[in-house]
Amino acid sequence: MKAVRFSEHGGRDVIGYGESEEPTRKEGEVLIDVKAAALNHLDVWTRRGLPGIDLNMPHVPGSDAAGVVVDGGATRFDEGDGVAVWSGVACGDCEFCRNGDEPLCTSFHIIGEHVEGVHAERVSVPAENLVRVPDDVDMKRAAAAPLVFGTAWRMLVTRAGLRPTENVLVLGASGGVGHACVQIARHAGATVYATAGSDEKAETARKLGAERVFDYTDENFADAVREATDGRGVDVVVDHVGKETWRDSLASLAKGGRLVTCGATTGGDATTDINRIFWNQLDVYGSTMATRGEVDDVLSLVWEGALEPRIRATLPMSEAKEGHRMLEERDGFGKVVLVPDTEL
Ligand SMILES: NC(=O)c1ccc[n+]([C@@H]2O[C@H](COP(=O)([O-])OP(=O)(O)OC[C@H]3O[C@@H](n4cnc5c(N)ncnc54)[C@H](OP(=O)(O)O)[C@@H]3O)[C@@H](O)[C@H]2O)c1
Ligand SMILES: [Zn+2]
Repeated sequence: MKAVRFSEHGGRDVIGYGESEEPTRKEGEVLIDVKAAALNHLDVWTRRGLPGIDLNMPHVPGSDAAGVVVDGGATRFDEGDGVAVWSGVACGDCEFCRNGDEPLCTSFHIIGEHVEGVHAERVSVPAENLVRVPDDVDMKRAAAAPLVFGTAWRMLVTRAGLRPTENVLVLGASGGVGHACVQIARHAGATVYATAGSDEKAETARKLGAERVFDYTDENFADAVREATDGRGVDVVVDHVGKETWRDSLASLAKGGRLVTCGATTGGDATTDINRIFWNQLDVYGSTMATRGEVDDVLSLVWEGALEPRIRATLPMSEAKEGHRMLEERDGFGKVVLVPDTEL
């Protein structure tokens, strides 16, 4: 069978697509024929190499995939079931897992980032990492949703506790996490503001529910937010951009506001105006991935069509390199889906 692989960390040229060993199903795992997979920015970080993570090479990347069960063993899955992968792996036994907060697990890790991933024709995945996909849900949508919608749900609903009367600013609305946050915030009844790097991206963000979208290449988004809110600022800011936006994200918050972050695409060593934090009594929330309960909640809304992953491109898996380029060059809006070449 074929899989996306790299044998060393580096630029996009290290990505290959070739013969890989057939996965063997271990106890508690489910063997799946992958029908579609999706890229996340995480795949770019994993390819470049992350400090402290020493991968077995060659490494098969990928955290998102959906497909059909070939062999469910003695698990709750049967041959022919449609499933999507949830890539967060927790021990189930540490103090945090026992308290139901898997993303805090002391040995938390991610399929594709720390262990072999799912950008392959066939994969074997622990049954607890699978979510059922109803028959009428397209496999591309099922593959595109889990990681970013799960992350976005925990950020806004669990961590920031967004309420319907509030307003929220979502940065990078064209990205996977960003476009999920715009939709979840709107679904929660909040007034949504967003930033996007072009008119076209802004237009799509508006269609997904953003009331106003600020093009940060034209204007300072913190000033624009102040103006749009009569000087008040917003209750919640979603920031996954990092160093480049951190200061203005804090400056966009109303008194008592909350900033929630899950990433730092432009770097983590940002400058913080501490005076603003204590005087305005701001809260900063970190958030990573989601519990399986949170994933079930958000995916049920995706399956029924209330939330919708936007697909910027569907590529043959052999063109994964092009998908990485689209993410790195911010080309397009939403998710890049990879379909095994044999399924096209
Ligand atoms: N902790 C977690 O559990 C978790 C989960 C998911 C993602 N993340 C992190 O969150 C970040 C976003 O992930 P994603 O998969 O949503 O990424 P993505 O699809 O590539 O989207 C990133 C978006 O950020 C915006 N952006 C602004 N400045 C940027 C810059 N200098 N370089 C690149 N993008 C920039 C872009 O929108 P514009 O072009 O419109 O500005 C882009 O669409 C990544 O750092 C990722 O590692 C963390
Ligand atoms: Zn644990």
